[in-house]
This record gives sequence, C-alpha cells and structure tokens, in this order.
Amino acid sequence: MTESEKLLARREAVVPRGVPRVTTATAVSARGATITDSEGRDLLDFAGGIGVMNAGHCQEAVVDAIREQAGKLLHACFHVATYEPYVALAEKLAELIPHGREGEGTKVLLINSGAEAVENAVKIARQATGRPAVICFSESFHGRTLLGMSLTSKVSYKKGCGPFAPEIYRLPFPNEWLRGDGLSSEAFVERELARLRDAFQTMVSAQDTAAILIEPVQGEGGFVTAPAAYLRGLREICDEHGIVLIFDEVQSGFCRTGRWASFEHFGVVPDLSTWAKSMGGGLPIGAVMGRGPIMDGAEPGTIGGTYGGNPVACASALATIGVMEDLKLNERAEALGDRIRKRFLAIQERTDMVAHVRGIGAMMAMELSHGGDPARPASEFTRAVARSCLEEGVLILSAGPAGNVIRILSPLVISDAELDRGLDVIEASILEHAATLGEGVMA
Ligand SMILES: Cc1ncc(COP(=O)(O)O)c(C=O)c1O
Repeated sequence: MTESEKLLARREAVVPRGVPRVTTATAVSARGATITDSEGRDLLDFAGGIGVMNAGHCQEAVVDAIREQAGKLLHACFHVATYEPYVALAEKLAELIPHGREGEGTKVLLINSGAEAVENAVKIARQATGRPAVICFSESFHGRTLLGMSLTSKVSYKKGCGPFAPEIYRLPFPNEWLRGDGLSSEAFVERELARLRDAFQTMVSAQDTAAILIEPVQGEGGFVTAPAAYLRGLREICDEHGIVLIFDEVQSGFCRTGRWASFEHFGVVPDLSTWAKSMGGGLPIGAVMGRGPIMDGAEPGTIGGTYGGNPVACASALATIGVMEDLKLNERAEALGDRIRKRFLAIQERTDMVAHVRGIGAMMAMELSHGGDPARPASEFTRAVARSCLEEGVLILSAGPAGNVIRILSPLVISDAELDRGLDVIEASILEHAATLGEGVMA
C-alpha cells in the first residue's frame, strides 16, 4: 500500500462518505502551483482547492502575515472587542470593489465561508426590503447550508436534505449556448427578461421579492457567463421594483476572470455581493459587501458570528490581496485565459468530443459531449480523463450538472511552462480516451 492509499483508507474509516472525495489525490505541502502528495510526488494544481488559491500556495507574504497575527491575537470575537485587521480588510474591500451609489458608502460584513456569505446576503436583503422571496437560477451553486442548498440547483448536492427553505423561486439561467434556440443575442436576452417579468405574474409578485441572486459567471454550473445585456436588464428590473440585486462572486472573484469582481466586465454593480474562496488565500473567510443603506437594513444581532472576520483570516486576506496587487494577477489571468482558450480550441479541432469552449479571463472550461451534442454529456468520459490526468501528475476538476465540463482553476502564479505542461496532459488524455471509444479524433 502506498502512503496515499493508507491515508485514504484511514479517511474512509472515520470520515462520512457524504464528504465528497472527487479525486484520489493526497496533499502534504504546496507551493506556487504545485502540491506535493504523501508519496513526495509533485502534482500540478489545476484545481486550486476549488478556486481558493488564485494567489498561489503558501505565498511567503501570506504565511508571514498569518504567523505575525497568530502571535498577536488569535481571536477576540468582533462583537466583543473591535480589532484592526477586520476594519482594515473591510476598508480595503470597499476601496477595491465599491458598491455605494452617489452619497452612499460601501459596507462589508465578514464571515467564514461562501455559504455563510449567501445566507447573510439574503437575510440583509429581506430585512432591508421587508419582503420574503428570492429569485435564483438553474444550474446555480450557492453552498451547503439549508438556505444555500435551497438556492442551489443541482439535485445531487441536496439529495434527501429537505424540506428546503420556502419562498425560493427559480428561473432558467440565461445560458445562451444551451438555450439560445437560434435567436440573436438581443432576442435571447429579451426573451429571458420577459420570462422574469412573466414570473412576477405567475410565480411571485415583484412586491414580495426581496432579492434576485445570480452568479454572473456560474462556477459549479460549468463556467457559464450570463450575457452582459441580461445582467443590465436585471439591474433595471431590480431598480424598478425595489428588489435587491445580489451577485455571487464566491468562485468568480479575486482575479479569476481578470478583475476583482467578474461584474466589472459587464458594467453592472449589484446592491450586494458575496465573496469567499480566493479572498482568504487559503484561510476560511467570506464577505458580504454592499451599498451602505442596504447593508444597514439588518438589525443589530441578526448578522455576524463568533468567528466571523477572525483576525488571522483577515491578516491572510489582506496579505493575499497585496500579493494579487503586487503580481498584477488580474493582468496575468487575462494572459493565462488567452493561452488556455487557444489550446482548448485546438483540442476542439482535433476531436468532436469537445462541444463547447467557454470562459472569461482564466475562468476557462470546455464541455465534453459525445459527438459534440450537448444532449449527450460525456460524464464518464470526463471522469476517466480526470483520472488519467492525475496519473500523469495533473490535478483537474470537472463541473456542470452532468459533471462533463473540465474547468481550470489553477493558481494564477502558474508559469507558462507549467500551464503548457498541464494542458499537454489534458489534451493527450482527451485524445487517447476519445480514440479508445472510437469517437471522432481528427489526425
Ligand atoms: C458561487 C458559489 N457560491 C457559494 C459557494 C459556497 O462556498 P463555501 O463552500 O465556501 O460555503 C460556492 C462554492 O463552491 C460557490 O462556487
């Protein structure tokens, strides 16, 4: 038995099977874009711990900041004693990603995870509007708490966990590639916005709707970007009816798409937004940011928590943001994304298993389907490709409701040579498996 196999066996004995184990990889240490496993083998990390390591593993500045803060103050609870790292991080976030309209400030709540961020954003929207309903979207993922699961679309994430939270209404995500029906982009967006207006007659009234919650670029849903015109339309509809527009940036934020917020690509600012993952550089921390008056709609005592904005996690987040600024990771994400897109399109030229190449910045993905037909998702094929990549030392993740989307979430500090090596492995694995299946591989 290898050391990894021994560890996996120990895991199986004491950890419930409900905690997903999506690969057989193990991890002992990590640096930059490389994880070292229990055998001492280096794995090229294209997963980033599910989009957490945009700034790279164990950045010296981040580790130093954590050490220094840990020696000073581990915990006080921000409700009990105000400490500077919380305030400094809130100030930094408000400066980087302002939400406030003219005459308003931006305010920031710190919590521990993405799911908590979503929970709190909904609580704030409900209190600020005095309304109960939330409109969300198909293929969305918003976390594993009860409200998070209730808002999440994919059934396998929530099997047997109901009854779910009430007053949640779901529309199809505006996935133009899948649901475009041959319409022009303009006509597609018009149809989808009309669907929302109809929903105010047939599902829930606008006057009862507290919030519309959407991932501008879906993460677990398979890296699908909502059309900019649709997001602008949502903004107008929310303004018209006093509905709080919430963007979930947990996976798409902090340089992944080449911006701090993916919404910067679309010229739309939400009322509230949710954050976690790469913001903390590896420590658990999340945030709700928003327009001051809406954030202040929550009554004292209704938001927060014992650990929310823990000082060590705040120090880690501040140092991580510093690394992102120093290394210009937004620019780097754009360059990486161009490189990945070119390679994915080249793979698509060579096999008809690649139904779609998509993404924004370094949030790139390709959807694998038999014969390139979206109705025939190549789920088992994608799992086999991921297993082969891991055997070759490249850790990759799938996404999408059918698990047939290969997504890239590598640290953005990855070198061109490392990226190319990983993409070579992915390409070889896809072509090999396609050839084995006798599925269209072009010479
Ligand atoms: C868009 C989005 N929202 C919320 C979450 C939940 O975050 P967490 O796992 O930190 O609770 C995730 C996690 O993948 C996510 O991708």
